Amino acid sequence: MTLTLKFFVGLGLITLALGAAVPKRAPVEDEESMHPHLPRSARARTSSEEATQAYWHAASKQLLREKLSHVRNTNRAKNIILFLGDGMGLATLAAARSYIGGEEQKLSFEEFPFTGLSKVYSVDKIVPDSACTSTSYLCGVKANYGTIGVNGHVLRGDCQAMANASNHVFSLGKWAMDSGKAAGLVTTTRVTHASPSGVYAHTADREWENNALLEEGCGEQAEGLQDIAMQLIYGEVGSRLKVMLGGGKRNFYDPEFYDKGRRTDGRNLVEEFEALDAGNTFVKTQKKLLKVNATETGRLLGLFSSGHMHYHVEQLADPENNEPTLEEMTEKAIEVLETEEEGYFLFVEGGKIDISHHDTMARIALDETAELSKAVKRAREITNPEDTLIVVTSDHSHTFSVAGYQPRGSDIFGSAKANGLDNKPYLPLSYANGKSFDYYYNTETHQREDPVVLATGDFDQLFPAMVPLESETHGGEDVAVFASGPWAHLFTGVYEQNTIPHMMAFAACVGDGLTACQTATN
Ligand SMILES: *[C@@H]1O[C@H](CO)[C@@H](O)[C@H](O)[C@H]1NC(C)=O
Ligand SMILES: *[C@@H]1O[C@H](CO)[C@@H](O)[C@H](O)[C@H]1NC(C)=O
Ligand SMILES: [Zn+2]
Repeated sequence: MTLTLKFFVGLGLITLALGAAVPKRAPVEDEESMHPHLPRSARARTSSEEATQAYWHAASKQLLREKLSHVRNTNRAKNIILFLGDGMGLATLAAARSYIGGEEQKLSFEEFPFTGLSKVYSVDKIVPDSACTSTSYLCGVKANYGTIGVNGHVLRGDCQAMANASNHVFSLGKWAMDSGKAAGLVTTTRVTHASPSGVYAHTADREWENNALLEEGCGEQAEGLQDIAMQLIYGEVGSRLKVMLGGGKRNFYDPEFYDKGRRTDGRNLVEEFEALDAGNTFVKTQKKLLKVNATETGRLLGLFSSGHMHYHVEQLADPENNEPTLEEMTEKAIEVLETEEEGYFLFVEGGKIDISHHDTMARIALDETAELSKAVKRAREITNPEDTLIVVTSDHSHTFSVAGYQPRGSDIFGSAKANGLDNKPYLPLSYANGKSFDYYYNTETHQREDPVVLATGDFDQLFPAMVPLESETHGGEDVAVFASGPWAHLFTGVYEQNTIPHMMAFAACVGDGLTACQTATN
């Protein structure tokens, strides 16, 4: 018999020997329940060609030919672009392919020639957040949970350690600007949120996005410290960024100037930004952004919503929508940065993949992943792979899972077309934890509800979670890295997340670490 059987028999013995609680059900020894015979697919396969070996052989031959003809690109990267899908784990990528048209589809960046895996743990946590990982993939240094742009000496909320400049670490954006390149950032979240602020901020707590929150966190110690929005306008790095596009207007205004403003210091940081230089341009609508003339723009600040920008599906559904898409922001950012002769560094975040996963809204998470894919596609189209390195990755995963044996081509959001031992169907997409727990589990009868009956099919439908939590958590497994352009071949293998900016800096010959230019002349 199989190894699997022996394994399960062994597990049963160990359980008995330890005198642990006897499981209610016997260990599974039955091959049929492990790999059940399933009803035949009602639908024809995507292509009847898949039933032939000729199809698979030909596809493999083509891929091999592409790989064999690939010439390593060891040019110096003039431009470097880092795309981040926040919370975009591997299960999200796989499900997103089904969402965009079928399992055999590829997201735009899955066409990139080189792929690796990034290890995401932080200095203090096995499963990290978007703040410490931003420090890692932008500043090249792992840090503590909740902190941004500071080293591991700074614990979350430690105002005194944050004040000590020798604890500050700087991003690839600064390294690029110090070498004469321009830098910019684009996000669908608040521009002061954890991921984008890794480009320019140093803070012991990701929440200190405006002066009120900083003062609440540090009390008297807030004196002399700057909140994240202030650091974007006046900080050593923020004040030099050429493009800043996203949401988060509320952190830049006292309510005196904007009714949703959250500052309490009587300031209007947007007006201050415009007053700093005649070339500084502020836009707050999609229409205005699309009209920005790159050659006539000095620095560009675009804030398109009070908080995070809306989900792409919400933008589509709103006839009054005047927020740009991630693709539109990315294209405009590149247009503006391209006017710089020495090249640029651009950070682009699809930030709402993470936010929808936290709410167990898998449909939206996959749609936001598709939006990121469109933005990457556009960036690859309007730049030259001979001189522009594009890296696409994620900061961490989620507890999201794609389970069961649903037929090819079936609706990934539908039923797994099989029942649990409680004779109720289950959904292929689910989470290990999250707020949807008691929507799908009847806490009075201690039975699952039928998820197919409860599933609304709407974009904001929740997907089942196994443990009740207010907010679904991040996941700790490795995330993928996709690379295209100069030195993209460096990004293969399994490595620490904080290596990413060092490899990008190597390709562009910026920063004080190893660079391609040094090794060429040595
Ligand atoms: C600042 O931090 C450095 C190293 O992290 C430490 O050596 C130094 O004593 C600190 N300075 C103050 C004033 O705390
Ligand atoms: C942008 O401005 C430049 C310089 O003023 C001008 O030559 C160009 O035609 C403008 N482009 C557009 C699309 O208006
Ligand atoms: Zn998150």
